[in-house]
Amino acid sequence: MIPITMKRRKIAVAAGFCLSFFLGTLMNLLFIPGFEHHQNHADRVHRFYHEQQQRVVDGTKLHVRDSDAAAAVDVNGEPTTSSRQRLDLQLQIQERYDEVLRYRQQQSPWSGTGNPVRPLERRRLMDLAQRNNWELSKGTEKTNNQYTDSHHRLSPAASLYTKSRRDFAVNTRIVNGTPMLGCSSIDNVTDVQYLGSGYTKAVYKAALNSSLSVALKSVDFGGHDMENCVKKYGSTGDCYRLASFKIVKEMTLMERLQHPNILKLFGYCYQDSNDIRDTVTAITELGSPLEMIQLLQTSWEERFRICLSLVRLLHYLAHSPLGSVTLLDFRPRQFVLVQGELKVTDLDDASAEETPCSSPADCVMEFPARNFTLPCSRGRCSGMNEKRNLYNAYRFFFTYLLPHSAPPALRPLLDKIVNSTGELIWGIDETLVQLEKVLHLYRNGLYLQNNTQPHRADYKRVVDASITGENYRCWPSYQHEGCMLSVFNIHEAIGVCESHAQCQAFVMTNQTTWTGHQLVFFKTGSASLSPAPGKVTFVRVSS
Ligand SMILES: Nc1ncnc2c1ncn2[C@@H]1O[C@H](COP(=O)(O)OP(=O)(O)OP(=O)(O)O)[C@@H](O)[C@H]1O
Ligand SMILES: *[C@@H]1O[C@H](CO)[C@@H](O)[C@H](O)[C@H]1NC(C)=O
Ligand SMILES: *[C@@H]1O[C@H](CO)[C@@H](O)[C@H](O)[C@H]1NC(C)=O
Ligand SMILES: *[C@@H]1O[C@H](CO)[C@@H](O)[C@H](O)[C@H]1NC(C)=O
Ligand SMILES: *[C@@H]1O[C@H](CO)[C@@H](O)[C@H](O)[C@H]1NC(C)=O
Ligand SMILES: *[C@@H]1O[C@H](CO)[C@@H](O)[C@H](O)[C@H]1NC(C)=O
Ligand SMILES: *[C@@H]1O[C@H](CO)[C@@H](O)[C@H](O)[C@H]1NC(C)=O
Repeated sequence: MIPITMKRRKIAVAAGFCLSFFLGTLMNLLFIPGFEHHQNHADRVHRFYHEQQQRVVDGTKLHVRDSDAAAAVDVNGEPTTSSRQRLDLQLQIQERYDEVLRYRQQQSPWSGTGNPVRPLERRRLMDLAQRNNWELSKGTEKTNNQYTDSHHRLSPAASLYTKSRRDFAVNTRIVNGTPMLGCSSIDNVTDVQYLGSGYTKAVYKAALNSSLSVALKSVDFGGHDMENCVKKYGSTGDCYRLASFKIVKEMTLMERLQHPNILKLFGYCYQDSNDIRDTVTAITELGSPLEMIQLLQTSWEERFRICLSLVRLLHYLAHSPLGSVTLLDFRPRQFVLVQGELKVTDLDDASAEETPCSSPADCVMEFPARNFTLPCSRGRCSGMNEKRNLYNAYRFFFTYLLPHSAPPALRPLLDKIVNSTGELIWGIDETLVQLEKVLHLYRNGLYLQNNTQPHRADYKRVVDASITGENYRCWPSYQHEGCMLSVFNIHEAIGVCESHAQCQAFVMTNQTTWTGHQLVFFKTGSASLSPAPGKVTFVRVSS
């Protein structure tokens, strides 16, 4: 009686959990800004091609629109509503420009501590780098008179934008010995597909050639950010520049923060489109959007991989060259998957600034289900960037992905990880140590050590053979039609077969997962046994 009610309660809890998760996801989907405004994809792809062509066709009438961006004070010298708004927009653009500059030049506040010589060295290097930048930019202006002349008439916003563009070009033409991609690389793209958009940006997939597809990110002219700004300030050109600084910031961060779990910047292109000069397109590594509902249906091993990638990313961000970086917007849509690895794509809401404070009351982190108060130390909230990331990782990822359907022997450790991050007991360093420990236990089959169940059946081993049909479905299979699961070794495969009522045979393939586990097909019989080099079939002979 007692076990049955307990089981019922467990099911009820599980059902409640699923329901709340799906409701949560649904709410996320319904209330994300910009969800309802998407035109159909064909429209967008058409527009993309149109813009590409316009760049070539309109090359001659580039300079016409500059008068658009007029001075911010009217003839009488009286500030009008519209001039005040212009000024307001101007200030916002200046702020974003300054932020980008900081990220370009900033060093980690504590890097070099303990070695009194190094900060000085670094200062000197920075000075040199700056002088070089400056000289190079001067060079650009001198050798390109037309370029300079045409900029005399630019609005302050446009000239800041041009400055940021030039700085970026100086910094990034060659990264790690490979030249960056530019406009010519995306002249001839094929197979353009709309991937998604958020508040500010629209993202397209495009094939550069037969072997390389990339993501192209640009400001979404029909998006909420542009729409709201133009409604408020009335200047498409300046609103574009304000919005595009998000892309410039993102490119800057992608360039300064190099990690396997941060999307790579391949290059960028400035071109004229939508009657605006020098619109920017970032060319980045391509991923596929993270679908939480899909993820819940994949194997524990794949879900663990995502959590581990995330923790490795957060560990890097906590100790990055820019200091401790926090992702202010941490929803799953800010991440994509690249061959099973999680990578962050949206960096425009990243910040390396620790919150200033005068008392702990200034250091409250508010989350829907929980508030935390952190210490205020030397005018900054201590460790807030790291802890915000970690708690977000807990609430958006770990609770859903880590514990459920994990190998039973790993459950206590996984529950501890979930609890300690959810309570912010551990920092990111300890969390990484514990996740790497889980990986070690899993990769080396140590989670099987205490499996003492004896095997009931004998199995006949047939080398270079496979079973073509005789599939059944199981969860969470790596293949749709059949039951394909990953195992550490033959003993684990036998254990799985004996736990499935339908299983009468299994085929060890030579394919492996990211941890080196082997993929195995479980079968209902062996009537369709046939030769298959490289595979080994085990057929149950007694029971
Ligand atoms: N490199 C990529 N590969 C595949 N899809 C991507 C890539 N980059 C972005 N996406 C998709 O495009 C969407 C919008 O991109 P992004 O988040 O950068 O735009 P945004 O305007 O900043 O959005 P938000 O309002 O969420 O901040 C993302 O949710 C993601 O699904
Ligand atoms: C683009 O494609 C066209 C037609 O295939 C080709 O003639 C042209 O040289 C290509 N341009 C570039 C820059 O690759
Ligand atoms: C595809 O384009 C990339 C970037 O320009 C280049 O590195 C790569 O060699 C190209 N591959 C082929 C097959 O042309
Ligand atoms: C968190 O703090 C806010 C503001 O003080 C308060 O309104 C909210 O109820 C608190 N939430 C929780 C879960 O304690
Ligand atoms: C962590 O464990 C404690 C003790 O079991 C429990 O009270 C608390 O709610 C747990 N916290 C989280 C975030 O799971
Ligand atoms: C297996 O059992 C031993 C002894 O009880 C224990 O020390 C060890 O941690 C267990 N291993 C796992 C992976 O649970
Ligand atoms: C698996 O075996 C087949 C047949 O021998 C072979 O062609 C294939 O390359 C092997 N794959 C791996 C990953 O070893």
